Amino acid sequence: MLRGKRVLLIVAGGIAAFKSLELVRRLRGRGAMVRAVLTEAGAEFVTPLSLQALTEDKVYRDLFSLTDESEMGHIQLSRDADLLVVVPATANLLAKMRAGIADDLASTVLLATDKPVLVAPAMNVRMWQHPATVENIQVLRQRGVLLVGPTEGDMACGEFGPGRMSEPEEIVAAIEQALGAGGPLSGRRALVTSGPTWEPIDPVRYIANRSSGKQGHAIAVALARLGASTTLVTGPTRLADPAGVHTVHIESAREMLEACSAALPADVAVCAAAVADWRTAQQAGQKIKKGGNAGPPTLELAENPDILASLAAAGAKRPGLVIGFAAETETVVSHATEKRRRKGCDWIVANDVSPGSGTFGGDDNTVHLVSEAGSEDWPRMGKDAVASRLADRIATFFTA
Ligand code: C5P
Repeated sequence: MLRGKRVLLIVAGGIAAFKSLELVRRLRGRGAMVRAVLTEAGAEFVTPLSLQALTEDKVYRDLFSLTDESEMGHIQLSRDADLLVVVPATANLLAKMRAGIADDLASTVLLATDKPVLVAPAMNVRMWQHPATVENIQVLRQRGVLLVGPTEGDMACGEFGPGRMSEPEEIVAAIEQALGAGGPLSGRRALVTSGPTWEPIDPVRYIANRSSGKQGHAIAVALARLGASTTLVTGPTRLADPAGVHTVHIESAREMLEACSAALPADVAVCAAAVADWRTAQQAGQKIKKGGNAGPPTLELAENPDILASLAAAGAKRPGLVIGFAAETETVVSHATEKRRRKGCDWIVANDVSPGSGTFGGDDNTVHLVSEAGSEDWPRMGKDAVASRLADRIATFFTA
């Protein structure tokens, strides 16, 4: 299933463009949301009206259209997608992708995106076998562009050989694979919190912490890879929004709680965010001035909501599996065991952040998985590896 997945279809100018209509129908039938960009040459093969009717959305065509830019600029088009799919990927568009040419909406979106891209090439056999195309494909593959087809067969030009675009059914399968839709968590919904929170003092100052968001973001990616429809609620970080994940940006703990509540129901919640424990009891409406007789201001603090504990106590909306993190500097496991009980969650991933561990902001982590069954010590590994192992454990929880 592709429920909730957002596919941006780029329809370029080749005879195989007609198959894009059937592709839209099949993708929507599997629950995907499809939005289409049509190139000028593409419009010679399929009408904008057909695409518009099948996607039930506007068809995006013009890089410089004022309405397009005000409603949905090229950056936003890619931001709002989990995957970009080029059907058909013509020799010309592949060459532009390789060279980084951005001279229309389709090529600009492809250059501006940080989302995964799947191309379904279609062209005459000699164009496919031309050294220029062979080299372009090689470079694009190295850059991580995914390929489906082409297949061998009779072609519209009367020749036979490789260059025929894959059938919609095969393209759907490739899309599902690219989005992890066949994975053990497909059909499941995951919620992940990540990063720090910023608690405003006045319009320009805030209280924050050093969380990088690396671990939380990696967990969101790992869950999406296993097929979960994943929402990442993140505080401000330097990290890019992960591909295939619905990312919601917040600043304060209270905003994080609101965004998490809005993301329910979920099957699993992983709270990896470093939520500020306190916020200022009052936020000044104007910048607090320094100087004067009053001296430095005194900040009165108020307790923030505990998002993990709230999710664990969400009654009928409680995710089936609620996982928290515990950053500890000593007696890591016994503190985490106590925290599991206190927060009402199912598992605690306890990590050692003692000075010299390099965990905070670093790429590695040493964790212990604490559950009702006891505690498991994991070897020191990269945060990505911790994320994959945790995602695998989550998948086992739901499939066992
Ligand atoms: O109480 P402590 O901050 O040590 O708990 C850590 C765990 O609780 C983490 O999973 C963190 O994301 C979560 N937490 C939260 N909301 C808070 C404080 C912590 O979700 N206000």
